[in-house]
Amino acid sequence: MSEIKIPVKGNELYAHACERFPGGGTMLLSKNPTMRAPGLWPAYYKEAHGCEIIDYDDRHLYDFATNGIAACSLGFNDPDVTAAVIEAVQKGSMCSQNCYEEVMLADKLCEIHPWAECCRFARTGGETAAVAARIARATTDRSGIAICGYSGWTDWYIAVNLGEDEAHFGKVIDGMQPWGVPRELRGTSLAFHFDDFDEFDKVIKENRGKLAAVFMEPVRWADPAPGFLEHIREVCTKEGILLIFDEITAGWRFCYGGSHKLLGVNPDIAIFAKAMGNGHPCGAVIGTKEAMKGAGKAFISSTYWTERVGSVAALATLNKMEKINSSKIICDTAREFMETMPKIAAAHGVEYGFRNSMKWPALVKPYFANSDEALFFTEQIIGKGFIHSDIGYDPTVAHTPEIRQLFYKAADEVFGMLADAKKKGTLHDQLITVNRETKKGFGRLNG
Ligand SMILES: Cc1ncc(COP(=O)(O)O)c(C=O)c1O
Repeated sequence: MSEIKIPVKGNELYAHACERFPGGGTMLLSKNPTMRAPGLWPAYYKEAHGCEIIDYDDRHLYDFATNGIAACSLGFNDPDVTAAVIEAVQKGSMCSQNCYEEVMLADKLCEIHPWAECCRFARTGGETAAVAARIARATTDRSGIAICGYSGWTDWYIAVNLGEDEAHFGKVIDGMQPWGVPRELRGTSLAFHFDDFDEFDKVIKENRGKLAAVFMEPVRWADPAPGFLEHIREVCTKEGILLIFDEITAGWRFCYGGSHKLLGVNPDIAIFAKAMGNGHPCGAVIGTKEAMKGAGKAFISSTYWTERVGSVAALATLNKMEKINSSKIICDTAREFMETMPKIAAAHGVEYGFRNSMKWPALVKPYFANSDEALFFTEQIIGKGFIHSDIGYDPTVAHTPEIRQLFYKAADEVFGMLADAKKKGTLHDQLITVNRETKKGFGRLNG
């Protein structure tokens, strides 16, 4: 029944990449094509504009998945950001001096966040988080960090998965092995789950006087329980622990400036990356003068944190986000999607829902009745020119009403095919990629 063509060139290149790049052929786990529909999901792209890519096999596909792993909320290759970056490159993006735009960016961030007075920049999310952890430890002269959420690949964070002893090695968070992280760091990062007041209180009580920071995503898939962030804020203040909000994925989508502005709780330090540069690397640590004191004592320095493209891209991105009110567009798009898709599915007697329900949705996490139905949908919608899976859909301003209508029409057809296959009992047999090896994601402390 299926007319779906398996891409040849992309699969050959990916097979070669798997030999070259140990660990699955990609530098970022979330870009591993085998996590979705191995062999069908595009591994490589030639061009990316708006929410459309041209893959290595020249397929044109609209991205109803993570859109640059949540890095491009204005859409790929946004013309205003691209123009600013080209100008910066043409004027020289690196020399022995600092770019003045980094000071303008720091001022802008502190203007958006009146509670913050100081700033440090990095480029990737993981290193931005590592800078914040270093600052917090230097400011407080303590080592412990209580974590809730994902904050990157570096030792301070992955140490959480060393567990309390060898029996718990790699078991605190699924799919995130702590090999290569010194066991001597055991006990320096401690996990608590989102909305779990008791677990949070226990971590604080058992580590009294040792914690430099509570490092957490203030929101991701669900609104925090009433009082949860307020409780954490109060305990941190009382115990002399710095509260760090990781806004690397939530930031700018739920609200211009970050989700904490909506949630009404200010941290001592907040970190941003990903969408702040709309596809160009730029990460920021912002904080109060008091919290950021450690940045003046600790050695924190890197050549490419000073290059110009990141600062210029971030300024252009923030200006555009503010001008067009991108967070409203994104939340409205997510809300429409979450209202529309279950209705289309239900009309065919198919279940399609969401694992997140929030007042201000900005990141969408779909679910299907089972993994066969999820894979069937992903495979067949690729055949119609869209990528979508139950891993997530991160809407962008480039998902225009016209493109969304095209997606809903294709989804309607695929749900119809799915219903038909279920009725005939052929759904599993119709799967194209089911027997191929898949790569799993990692677990989360926040849903
Ligand atoms: C909340 C959060 N913090 C940090 C990171 C790490 O960012 P990067 O992948 O740029 O190192 C991520 C990445 O997904 C994230 O979602």
